[in-house]
Amino acid sequence: MYNRIKRYLEQNVTQSRLEHSMATSRMCGYLCNLFGIDEAPGKIAGIAHDIARELHDNEKIALAEKDIYTTTPYEREHPVLLHGRAGAVLLSEQFSLSDEPVLQAVRWHTTGHTGMGVIGKILFVADYIEPGRTHIDDAYRQKILKMSLDAMVLEILSKEITHLRNSGNAIVEDSILLYDDLLNSGLKG
Ligand SMILES: [Fe+2]
Ligand SMILES: [Fe+2]
Repeated sequence: MYNRIKRYLEQNVTQSRLEHSMATSRMCGYLCNLFGIDEAPGKIAGIAHDIARELHDNEKIALAEKDIYTTTPYEREHPVLLHGRAGAVLLSEQFSLSDEPVLQAVRWHTTGHTGMGVIGKILFVADYIEPGRTHIDDAYRQKILKMSLDAMVLEILSKEITHLRNSGNAIVEDSILLYDDLLNSGLKG
């Protein structure tokens, strides 16, 4: 599956997206090992997560509309928010990918989602901290890598929410709900 998806990306996305996807996959594998779970599904989630990121907006919307979760008007106005949902549908339709934790991880990687599983959390973190990401420095990356998985997700969510607020963007409900959930679970922000 990994190689099939990689070959598809080689034909269909930019080189920088391919490199980001491969680096995210490697970081997912690293985090799976760190937290003692099988790395294979994590690596597939990582290579696959942005498979729909470069589709035209109308293709993203059309695919996401086939998802089992309904889309909101705000998401349809900002289709980039739907690339995870569209990716999950594409992977299930065109690659017959049926590993539900992997599909869920891809589905919610942009915003996070309450009740997201371990693979979902690992992908959410890996997408943000893979070494090609220049918006964070290595000291911050190392700081994150010392945390528990939930604390990593909470740290990244709070950074993203602050960033969105400061840049005047809306914060989707999925992210707020996950943030509240993690805080209420006893983690300190
Ligand atoms: Fe993405
Ligand atoms: Fe990504």
